[in-house]
Amino acid sequence: MDLDRSKVWEFIERFVELAAGAGLIGVMAVADRAGLLAELARQGWVTPDELAGDRFTERYVREILAALASAGIADYRQEDGRFRLPPEHAACLTDPTSPYLLAGWLDLLPAAMKSIDRLAEVTVQGGGIPIEEYDGRVVVGIDRANAPSQRILLTRRWLPAVPGLEARLQGGARVADIGCGSGAAALAMARAYPSSTVVGYDVDSRAIQRARAEAAEAGLENVDFVLAGAESLPPGFDLVTALDVIHDLPNPKATLINIRESLSPEGLLMMMEPKVGPRLADNFSPRGSLLYAISVLYCLPQSLTGEGPGLGTAWGPVAAEALCREAGFSSFHVLEIDNDFSSFYEVRP
Ligand SMILES: C[S@@+](CC[C@H](N)C(=O)[O-])C[C@H]1O[C@@H](n2cnc3c(N)ncnc32)[C@H](O)[C@@H]1O
Repeated sequence: MDLDRSKVWEFIERFVELAAGAGLIGVMAVADRAGLLAELARQGWVTPDELAGDRFTERYVREILAALASAGIADYRQEDGRFRLPPEHAACLTDPTSPYLLAGWLDLLPAAMKSIDRLAEVTVQGGGIPIEEYDGRVVVGIDRANAPSQRILLTRRWLPAVPGLEARLQGGARVADIGCGSGAAALAMARAYPSSTVVGYDVDSRAIQRARAEAAEAGLENVDFVLAGAESLPPGFDLVTALDVIHDLPNPKATLINIRESLSPEGLLMMMEPKVGPRLADNFSPRGSLLYAISVLYCLPQSLTGEGPGLGTAWGPVAAEALCREAGFSSFHVLEIDNDFSSFYEVRP
């Protein structure tokens, strides 16, 4: 076969870049779980020996630091052999209160990859993989990835973007958060709007357990968590939130119909979905690759359990509006919220 050697080498370089990224996710996951990343962030410039102290094994620490520095994740000072995690990187990797925290991906990606054998099976045979079949770390990863921004921004920026909604919530409203995961959004709303009642629904018992534990610890009385699918929502809600959920559902249209029927006449659904361009090629970028990767590894297989249409993570606003209208909603509005990763839709019956 006549190959253009320069193109082969271009692709080899590209593959090495991708393999390095995947490997470094593994290395960062190790360092994260061992507590080494947090310690590196805390200590500033350190030698491997100092960082190891009597808590870690120096030989591992040295290799991990070399890996992190090779990719610009950690800084390295040749003259004294010291490493550090710059504060800006620590904001993304180790600070649990930072809205930039990305560390959830260090749980989510390795946990989802544990299902690669099953994913290969369903790719051949069809069918899906229900959420409970995934390693429990996915639940932790999703919470870690989404909770920091939800805790900070949901009640300060996202809900106030809907005219009049904040006042209603302050006055006392009935709210359901469907696919609530570990409960960060429901808890944030219960805290911010003490006159409102908030119910979180999820089908994953591990997530509901975590949410109930958080609620008990916070001592909040206006929030409840129910182990149930969004397709069996009772009537009477003024607001339903679906944050990063609808594209995961095996029966999104039936669920949207049920949500519409559960809303009070002036009620509304707020959906948060990954931000994507309208055409496939608009998403040919590292962000698009990450979305499609998580779609293949986690979202799509869930949505293909049962008779699911398999929306995929990157289904986008055009398909979202069409599905909401098919489910009988009369208005669909993309909210003007400045966010690099998510789009927000205000949907009314
Ligand atoms: C990507 S996670 C998002 C969790 C949370 N809303 C957040 O933003 O972090 C999707 C959630 O939807 C839940 N889920 C999947 N199918 C569901 C269904 N039919 N009804 C309710 N929740 C469902 C999953 O268990 C999972 O917790």
